[in-house]
Amino acid sequence: MSISEHPGSGHAGSGPRTPTPAELEDMTPDQLARLAAELDDVEIVHNAKKFPVPGTRAEKRAERSVALWFAIATIAGIAFLGFYLFWPFEYKAPGDPGYLAYALYNPLVGGTFGLSVLALGVGIIAYVKKFFPDEVSVQQRHDGPSDEISRKTVLAQLAKAGQDTGIARRSLIKRSAGAAAGIFGLGLGIAAIAPLVRNPWKGGPKAALWTTGWAPNFPGEVVYLRRDTGVADEISLVRPEDQDAGSMETVFPFRESERGNAEALGAALRRSDNPVMLIRLRPGTPVIQRAGRETFHYGDYYAYSKVCTHLGCPTSLFEAQTNRILCPCHQSQFIATEYAKPVFGPAARALPELPITVNNEGYFVARSDFADPIGPAFWELGGNT
Ligand code: FES
Repeated sequence: MSISEHPGSGHAGSGPRTPTPAELEDMTPDQLARLAAELDDVEIVHNAKKFPVPGTRAEKRAERSVALWFAIATIAGIAFLGFYLFWPFEYKAPGDPGYLAYALYNPLVGGTFGLSVLALGVGIIAYVKKFFPDEVSVQQRHDGPSDEISRKTVLAQLAKAGQDTGIARRSLIKRSAGAAAGIFGLGLGIAAIAPLVRNPWKGGPKAALWTTGWAPNFPGEVVYLRRDTGVADEISLVRPEDQDAGSMETVFPFRESERGNAEALGAALRRSDNPVMLIRLRPGTPVIQRAGRETFHYGDYYAYSKVCTHLGCPTSLFEAQTNRILCPCHQSQFIATEYAKPVFGPAARALPELPITVNNEGYFVARSDFADPIGPAFWELGGNT
């Protein structure tokens, strides 16, 4: 049935007559799709199915080539999941055993994920190009929202598009596309929830977010300040006379129990919340201390976490003229003479201060771990600022 067979017009004074609800119920999907086109002022000039005779060898070949892309997407998706979940990702320094595997982690995860998305996209495009009918349509433009009939018939149009491509009887494409989309969705889902699996609060007050490598492993353990010479097991401890007034040095924790243990020493240098800026102010520089933390410094020496409280970049720049510490990522500035409180930029809380002193041998040591959590704020931080 063609709506143009009906006399009169029910659409904006021209075009096809609006069918009654009863007529609408009786219409086949084909008729509804054609009605949808007519209601949209679309004239279908030419419509020819790609494979008018079902089951030809050409059709099967086209079907297999589309399914091949979905199969590639499925395999790449499974490979992505495997690499993401099981490939060793822990940091290894160049030259260490396992470095090659570590270096391959990002390329493998990114490459398989990219291939999965690419193959899925190419498969969809190939399906449309190979099976959608060749059609030439002309549509007149008109304003305003679509009416009820138009909305209903659009769905029929979509259903007809599916019919025209014969998707119902193309089980190979349906299965391969379903597998590819399913694996892809599974990968996205796992990537989204994987970071929630590890409980950051395990260990209570000793949980990773509350403590750093400066925390003594047992009561009374001495944790020294050391510099990084580029060789993990070459220990260079820091003494006050080593540093010029108005300068800054980056230091890391060192404990005697780790001497000679290159792996533990390397890990202490790499741990992300360990780096500390040891700043020596010029003599006589006026300083404002935080209440209750007047003993955190040693003379003109102040030790602040190097991890920016905005998004965690290293705040590596110390300007001696203004006593400001700068974070190069988003230009936050902290004032070293006022407990490293932020004075410019997006950072909202002070850089945590490490309590330090000098021991009997004349070396800098930490008196305890930081009093505040390191790095960017998080929900549970509460009043710990
Ligand atoms: S991370 Fe330092 S300002 Fe953004």
